[in-house]
Amino acid sequence: MKVTLSVIKADIGGFVGHSDSHPQCLARAEKHLAEAKKKGMLIDYHITKCGDDLQLIMTHQKGINNKVIHEMAWDTFVSCTEVAKELKLYGAGQDLLCDAFSGNVKGMGPGVAEMEIDERPSEPIIIFMADKTSSGAWNLPLYKMFADPFNTIGLVIAENMHDGFSFEVHDVKESKGITFNTPEEIYDLLVFIGAPSRFAIKSVSTRKGEIAAVSSTQKLALLAGRYVGKDDPVCIVRAQGAFPAVGEILEPFTQPYLVEGWMRGSHNGPIMPVSVEDSTPTRFDGPPRVTALGFQLSNGMLIGPRDMFKDKSFDNARQKSLDMADMMRSHGPFEPHRLPLEEMEYTTMPQVSKKLAGRFKPLKD
Ligand code: 13P
Ligand code: 13P
Ligand code: MG
Ligand code: MG
Ligand code: MG
Ligand code: MG
Repeated sequence: MKVTLSVIKADIGGFVGHSDSHPQCLARAEKHLAEAKKKGMLIDYHITKCGDDLQLIMTHQKGINNKVIHEMAWDTFVSCTEVAKELKLYGAGQDLLCDAFSGNVKGMGPGVAEMEIDERPSEPIIIFMADKTSSGAWNLPLYKMFADPFNTIGLVIAENMHDGFSFEVHDVKESKGITFNTPEEIYDLLVFIGAPSRFAIKSVSTRKGEIAAVSSTQKLALLAGRYVGKDDPVCIVRAQGAFPAVGEILEPFTQPYLVEGWMRGSHNGPIMPVSVEDSTPTRFDGPPRVTALGFQLSNGMLIGPRDMFKDKSFDNARQKSLDMADMMRSHGPFEPHRLPLEEMEYTTMPQVSKKLAGRFKPLKD
């Protein structure tokens, strides 16, 4: 049976500040998706949040980039924004950057990850959602899951994984893409994905072309005077069989790594794996969070979720993230905590430079 899994997300308003979502907004989304399911537009759905980002997890049979599904998601975000406005939540409608829907939510502010699959006899799926970071944040864990034998022993000892995987990488600034085959091209692959603010993994497939993972990475579009398509990403990963085991998919998050985002989208900070309940980035609006919901698909029905990072075995990772957060915070306004100038979401550089222009004197030798 062919099933499309669509995860579409947007920040429609934060409670309090950018630290969490309001239950009334989630309830409004629930009402809309229940209607869509009743009409037969969706097979099934699950509503959740990661920090201040509202997540619509949906299954249907309309394929990816479907106008009806995207428009329904957009209308849901617009309706939830009305609730956010009534409650005067912070940044109501923050990620809805266009006035009217025009065929596809991509480039309009929301993030989208979708895959169409032939549902296997057993189809375990993990959906990762992150807050206070950007789409290149999946590069390191996807590399570990699908190309690093120190993470994924299946690459070595499982016959159906031994051939490796293909990585589709997007240059989000120049809007072009390339596919690398691993293991033979891992050094070439790493030249690019090691620079996650510019090169982001869009998808991973088996060498036979079966989709294994897809992220919400998209080309950056200049909308409302700022780049969008970078923010608070999601990623869908299929597990078991020809794909990594669930435990191999979760393992990269036991070693917290630094990502771009955090306070004002302008800092490097450790990504902390947490339960949905604990996706409440509060300290310096962070540290950045990642949640993981597991489902078994059953004829398109979402059996679950299981909140995978709630497990005690991620406690050490959380503690490490908190220690790394202290270390990074001690730099205050200095790099490498603060992002380099061209990557900051906020900057006063143009105004301050203009004000001081007359006081800059040429250097003599
Ligand atoms: P089981 O024997 O419990 O199915 O485990 C197999 C496996 O692949 C674990 O990663
Ligand atoms: P969000 O993208 O999660 O709204 O975060 C914005 C921000 O600037 C936090 O400090
Ligand atoms: Mg926000
Ligand atoms: Mg957010
Ligand atoms: Mg955001
Ligand atoms: Mg942000």
